Parts: sequence; C-alpha cells; structure tokens
Amino acid sequence: MHSPNTSFLVSNSMHSFGIIALLILFINGCICYSPIERENEVAAFISSKLYFYGGWNLSSLGDLFYIDLKQQFNASDPPFQLLAMLEHKGDSSAVAYKDEIIIFGLDESQGGSSNDLIIINVTSNYSLNIVENTDNSIWPSQRGITNGSASNSTLNDGAMYKFDILSYSWEVYNSSTQPICRVQHTATMTPDGNIIMIGGLFNPEIAQIDIYDTKTNQWSQKNANIIGRVYARWGHTATLTTNNQSIIIYGGHSNSTPSIADIAVLNLSAYIWTSITPFGEKPKIFPFHHTATLYNDYIFFAFGSMSNIVSILDISNGHYEWVTSYYPRVSNLNAPNSSNSINIGIVVESIVGSIIVVGLLIIISYLIYSNNKLKKENKYLGTHRYNDETNEVVNDK
Ligand SMILES: *[C@@H]1O[C@H](CO)[C@@H](O)[C@H](O)[C@H]1NC(C)=O
Ligand SMILES: *[C@@H]1O[C@H](CO)[C@@H](O)[C@H](O)[C@H]1NC(C)=O
Ligand SMILES: *[C@@H]1O[C@H](CO)[C@@H](O)[C@H](O)[C@H]1NC(C)=O
Ligand SMILES: *[C@@H]1O[C@H](CO)[C@@H](O)[C@H](O)[C@H]1NC(C)=O
Ligand SMILES: *[C@@H]1O[C@H](CO)[C@@H](O)[C@H](O)[C@H]1NC(C)=O
Ligand SMILES: *[C@@H]1O[C@H](CO)[C@@H](O)[C@H](O)[C@H]1NC(C)=O
Ligand SMILES: *[C@@H]1O[C@H](CO)[C@@H](O)[C@H](O)[C@H]1NC(C)=O
Ligand SMILES: *[C@@H]1O[C@H](CO)[C@@H](O)[C@H](O)[C@H]1NC(C)=O
Repeated sequence: MHSPNTSFLVSNSMHSFGIIALLILFINGCICYSPIERENEVAAFISSKLYFYGGWNLSSLGDLFYIDLKQQFNASDPPFQLLAMLEHKGDSSAVAYKDEIIIFGLDESQGGSSNDLIIINVTSNYSLNIVENTDNSIWPSQRGITNGSASNSTLNDGAMYKFDILSYSWEVYNSSTQPICRVQHTATMTPDGNIIMIGGLFNPEIAQIDIYDTKTNQWSQKNANIIGRVYARWGHTATLTTNNQSIIIYGGHSNSTPSIADIAVLNLSAYIWTSITPFGEKPKIFPFHHTATLYNDYIFFAFGSMSNIVSILDISNGHYEWVTSYYPRVSNLNAPNSSNSINIGIVVESIVGSIIVVGLLIIISYLIYSNNKLKKENKYLGTHRYNDETNEVVNDK
C-alpha cells in the first residue's frame, strides 16, 4: 500500500521532471552560445561540465562558457552555454581544482606585461579572483611570448615553480638535473606523481621524453621507441588515458610537415610511441593550440587553429574512433533510475578530477611557454587535403 504522502511525492516529482524536460528542450533548442573561432583558449572539466575560457583570435578573448556532458549532442553543433564575459586572457594554461578553474599566463592582451594568477569559482559568481604578486615574493617570470624572437637562452629562467593552492604562494625548485627548456610542449601528470614532458619547440625529438618527479623534485629522461610515423611537434595536446597507462597526443605543428592531424599513443610502461589511425571520419582540421579533455573515455578536442570546431574521439576498450555524436555513457546499463547514473557520473568525475587536481600543483607552474605568433602563418583548416596514410598535407600544385 502506498501512503498518500508517497504518491503525492511521486506525482509531484514526475511533474517537475516534465517541467525540467521541457526546460532542457528549450535550452537545447533555443539559447545556445556560438563562440567565435579561436586558439589558445583554456578548458577545464568540473562536475559534468566542460568549461572554456578566453583564447586568442588576433586579440585576446574573455568569454567563459561550457558544455554540459550529461546531455547528448552532435559534434557539429555543441550546446555551448555562456556564463560570463571576463577579463581577456589570450595565452594561458589552466587546471581544475574542486569547483575552481585556476589560470596562469599572459594577461589581458598579447602585449600585456602582467602575469597574474586568476581563479574562477564556478559554483559562486563567475568572477575573477586575481592573485597578484604584491609583496615581491617568489613569482615565476611571465609566461606567454608575444613575438617570434624567442630563443632557447632567453626562455629558460632555470627553475620549476609550484603554486600552492591553499596558501596561494609559489615555491621554486631549481634542480641541477633540469633539462633544456621546452616551449609549447605538453606536461601530463600521472598518478605516480611524475609529469611527462612531450614535444615542444627547441626539443624536436618526439622520442626524447623528460620526466619531472614531484616527489623528489628531480628530472629524468626516457628515450621512447617509435612504431610507425610519429612526427616531432609543438602546440599539440596530450591526454592521459582512463587506465593511466598511456598518453594520447593529437595535432600540433611540425618542422617535417606543415601541419599534422595525427593521433599517436605513448605506452607509459614500455615507452613506445605508436601511430594510430582511428576509425570514423577524420576531423576536417589540422589542430594546434587546441584543448583536449577526457571524460568517460571520450576525448573532446576543441577550438585551435583559429576555429570553433569540436572533435570527439571515443577511446573506450582501446578502440579509437572519431564520433560525430556524443552520448553520455552510463557504465551500468541496468541502472534503474537517474540517481544511480548520477552516482556513476560522480565516481568517474572524481577519477578525472583527481588527475587534474594532482596535476594542478605542478602543471600550472611548470615553465609552460606559449608563443602563438610563432608559425602563426601555418594555418591549415578544412580546405587543405591530406594523405590519410602519412597524415601529411597534400600540396596542390
Ligand atoms: C575576435 O573576436 C571579437 C569578439 O570578441 C570580434 O569582434 C573580432 O572580429 C574577432 N576578430 C577576428 C579576427 O575574428
Ligand atoms: C544530431 O544530428 C542528427 C542528424 O543531423 C539529428 O537528427 C539529431 O537530431 C541531432 N541531435 C542533436 C542532439 O542535436
Ligand atoms: C567556491 O565558492 C563556493 C560558494 O561560495 C564555496 O563553497 C567553495 O568552497 C568555493 N570553492 C573553493 C575551491 O574554494
Ligand atoms: C561577484 O563578483 C563581483 C565582481 O567581482 C563582486 O563585486 C561581488 O561581490 C561578487 N559577489 C559574490 C556574492 O561573491
Ligand atoms: C619582441 O620581443 C623582443 C624581445 O623581448 C622585444 O624587444 C620586441 O620589442 C618585441 N617586438 C614586438 C613587436 O613585440
Ligand atoms: C636557478 O639556478 C640558476 C643557476 O644557479 C640561477 O641562474 C637562477 O637564477 C636560479 N633561478 C631561481 C628562480 O632561483
Ligand atoms: C588512474 O589514476 C587515478 C588518479 O590517481 C585513479 O583515481 C584511478 O583509479 C586510476 N585508474 C585506474 C584504472 O587505475
Ligand atoms: C605497454 O607495452 C607493454 C610491453 O609491450 C605491454 O605489455 C602493455 O600491454 C602495453 N600497455 C598498453 C596500455 O598498451
């Protein structure tokens, strides 16, 4: 027997479900945001939402917007929602910590000289909390380079910086084992506390991998074997797989071919690079200065190459496939109700989240230089043909 109370609750919640469903339809159908083309934006995943902020489109941008990954959508038409227009940040790096996005890098405009650290709390007020170097304490030199005159010697300020998110202060680690500096490389934190440095200008060998051990603050090197053709590159992205055993890189610039759009996978136990040709239709873009975010075995590649293209790579079960539609994954198909799938979502989020959180302390402070005007002319968008075997641009005569 149902008590009157229970049946009231049931019908009441069905009623609100109907209203919520209508609202969602309305939101999906009508009031989506259309972000303009850009590159060098930052992305952060927090509690089912993939946030984007800023970037550069020949001047720097300041829009904060997101896609909710609880809903299905087509890659050709992502349901972006605008949250706020903030200070412009053209050339930064970011990590997520709990409900905050922490951003460090060149400020306001490409010519700006300040290098504040800014924090956006996404559960209260999408305003910027600006952390400035007011007392001349330890603070890394400016990241983000404004023109093509960068050279190896001018870039290396000789130290690894770590930002403490609790005390809001920087620490410096000046190790004698530090390798030469990299520019536009990637820095990927693994659960064992290592940060894996891949590619970058001035460090063209894709096989040569520098590893920073956050437990000992020491550097080491690995020389990876390469299976197939994996170009040296910079301006690419690197994503740790869900099982923490591999890193997937995508796109970037290369000296050996004008632009690249290939996927390669680094096996972190054997240090072997393998070139991968995913199933599905290859995105019509040569991505660089884009973002890559892993969620539930999907990697969302977004923007870059002065585009607003979103490409989705499904990496579940070691099967790589470009997909045109995104369907939220529920790992337990027998999940009887929505509260179960919410739980699954939270578990998965905490896996992804913790990678990002561990990464926070160091990745944000590593010498991440970005020079988005170097090689700016190398833009290969959808109109260029490329060879699927070699991933090279086919030069039309
Ligand atoms: C860059 O974005 C702004 C809007 O923030 C727009 O007015 C401008 O036309 C864009 N510039 C280019 C080159 O697309
Ligand atoms: C995705 O695209 C297909 C085919 O164009 C369309 O039928 C479908 O409604 C779209 N789905 C969403 C969620 O936009
Ligand atoms: C973000 O703001 C909310 C609401 O003010 C607060 O509860 C939360 O602790 C803040 N997040 C962090 C990481 O401080
Ligand atoms: C929201 O941000 C604005 C601008 O920084 C600030 O003035 C205001 O106090 C904030 N409100 C809350 C509730 O934190
Ligand atoms: C490029 O960088 C050099 C070295 O920092 C500086 O002297 C020069 O003024 C810069 N040029 C432009 C156009 O920003
Ligand atoms: C790191 O060490 C080098 C070499 O001793 C020195 O030139 C540099 O100033 C140091 N940097 C910091 C931030 O302590
Ligand atoms: C991957 O690493 C994260 C962070 O340490 C951990 O929570 C997760 O369980 C690991 N995943 C696997 C499959 O081992
Ligand atoms: C990495 O390589 C080792 C040795 O070839 C292999 O046993 C392992 O399965 C590989 N790992 C992945 C994730 O492919």
